[in-house]
Amino acid sequence: MRKPIIAGNWKMHKNNVEAEDFVKSFQPQISDIDNVEVVLCAPFTTLGHLISVTANTNIRIAAQNMHWEDSGAFTGEVAPGMLKSIDCKYVVLGHSERRQYFAETDEAVNKKLKAALKANLTPIACIGEQLEDREQGKTEAVIKQQFEVGFAGLTSEEMAKTVIAYEPVWAIGTGKTATSQQAEEVCAYIRKLIEEGFGSETAQQVRIQYGGSVKSANVKELMEQPNIDGALVGGASLEPDSFAQIVKF
Ligand code: PGA
Repeated sequence: MRKPIIAGNWKMHKNNVEAEDFVKSFQPQISDIDNVEVVLCAPFTTLGHLISVTANTNIRIAAQNMHWEDSGAFTGEVAPGMLKSIDCKYVVLGHSERRQYFAETDEAVNKKLKAALKANLTPIACIGEQLEDREQGKTEAVIKQQFEVGFAGLTSEEMAKTVIAYEPVWAIGTGKTATSQQAEEVCAYIRKLIEEGFGSETAQQVRIQYGGSVKSANVKELMEQPNIDGALVGGASLEPDSFAQIVKF
């Protein structure tokens, strides 16, 4: 059985005070949830503080990016071991905003993915098509390319530990959710790609999230789909009540 994983992606929002206020209001609302892994993906500057205020709770903390090297002359970057050293256990990789605004490629995502797994971090690796890909009937081809390059060279054990977030770029921050059927179709296709590359046992273990305008009104139907094991939530994760409702779908 795959344990559902619902992650709030705060993007470039919340300082330490705001993050702590969020936890104070959010945590009591979800403290009895043990059948869903609850994750907050926060900016680097709030990770340490959030990790300490969520210690001994059922909330887990993720970084939103990292570099693949252990150390070196990479001004402005953060290494996997640095995240480990503050007890950060998850990291989002290859988010479409990183790809779009910071020119991240599938090759870079692949290096980051391998480095995260080597450092024992749980990666949440994002893939998803653009609107024009979908309109031109290229969704599966784009997903296949992102998967084959981005996940190349992983062992089956590493693949099984990786969380995949399927986020159609046209649904991110636009209010346009993919229908649960559209989301399920692509998540099922991703599971088929995992099966072809890593075997059926591994494919059954990998958790696949849907992301893109998830909110309390649509989360239940999405979570009911057989190949959707969680959600990566942007806008609707910024408010404690709204994110608590989603986690308690
Ligand atoms: P959204 O963002 O929920 O605001 O669409 C999702 C994401 O970018 O992960």
